[in-house]
Amino acid sequence: MGGLGAIGNTPLVALELGGGPGEVWVKVEAANPTGSYKDRMALAMIEAAERDGRLQPGQTVVEYTGGSTGSSLAFVCAVKGYPLKIVSSDAFATEKIRTMRAFGAEVELIHSPGGITPQLIPAMVARAAEIAAETGAFWTDQFNNTDMTDGYRRMGEEILEQVDTLDAFCSYVGTAGAFLGASRALRQKLPKLKRVAVEPGESAVLSGKPAGTHHIEGGGIGYWPPQLSPADFDEVIAIPDAEAFATARKAARQHGIFSGPSTGANLAAALQIAAKDQRVVTIQVDSGLKYLSGPLYA
Ligand SMILES: Cc1ncc(COP(=O)(O)O)c(C=O)c1O
Repeated sequence: MGGLGAIGNTPLVALELGGGPGEVWVKVEAANPTGSYKDRMALAMIEAAERDGRLQPGQTVVEYTGGSTGSSLAFVCAVKGYPLKIVSSDAFATEKIRTMRAFGAEVELIHSPGGITPQLIPAMVARAAEIAAETGAFWTDQFNNTDMTDGYRRMGEEILEQVDTLDAFCSYVGTAGAFLGASRALRQKLPKLKRVAVEPGESAVLSGKPAGTHHIEGGGIGYWPPQLSPADFDEVIAIPDAEAFATARKAARQHGIFSGPSTGANLAAALQIAAKDQRVVTIQVDSGLKYLSGPLYA
């Protein structure tokens, strides 16, 4: 099992906000082995495929990723002995690319100097599909993989064990796996819980706006994620790049929550919800250590 035994059971902490009755609780997912909640879904995708025979011993695994899923898959595949081919881009943090290589993955990059453009994710998906077809590798296909979504249920269950009651849950949407898995588990005990999807202001597709270029990596893919339907959420909050970045920086300095831009977006949305006197839980998606060489902490 090795490092795989360290996945999950992460802390839940409250922010000291002062003032009104609103509360923000943060699930500290940087405590996972690769510093990201993606360890949960990588293990879930691989173990489900092992169980039903889609993945055979020693078979190569392939995936497209901004680098967080890839780092987690590289970690899980290293422990379990599966070679891993990754399609990613230089639009994402260098730390993530290096982490994947550190765990032994073969990484192919698509050049996208402008950031996360609407064309980038489809190009990555197409290349991963091509590799799977050419080599017979097992393609985890995170956006369409329901084992991925189920892998986050435990995160919701842990939150229920850590806090008595909640008014709302908000989370930044990429594949929507974390949002769906956690909110489904939370809703089982708290049927009135408000589920708030978070997306980039510059690519607010869930809010009905056009896709655009943004810098909140891990989400805002420029189209509706296949596993998400409008019935899965009660509200959407769109957070502009600048606010996500500023909130991430402020969270490190004020609260000791050291994270990346997507967590900045989560916290910015959670603060808006708490300002309406709500008790809200959100997620520290991953560690700020993944973003040290980029613009966020420059
Ligand atoms: C840094 C980061 N934040 C947020 C997300 C969004 O999570 P999900 O894909 O579960 O919606 C991801 C997913 O790639 C991510 O890498």
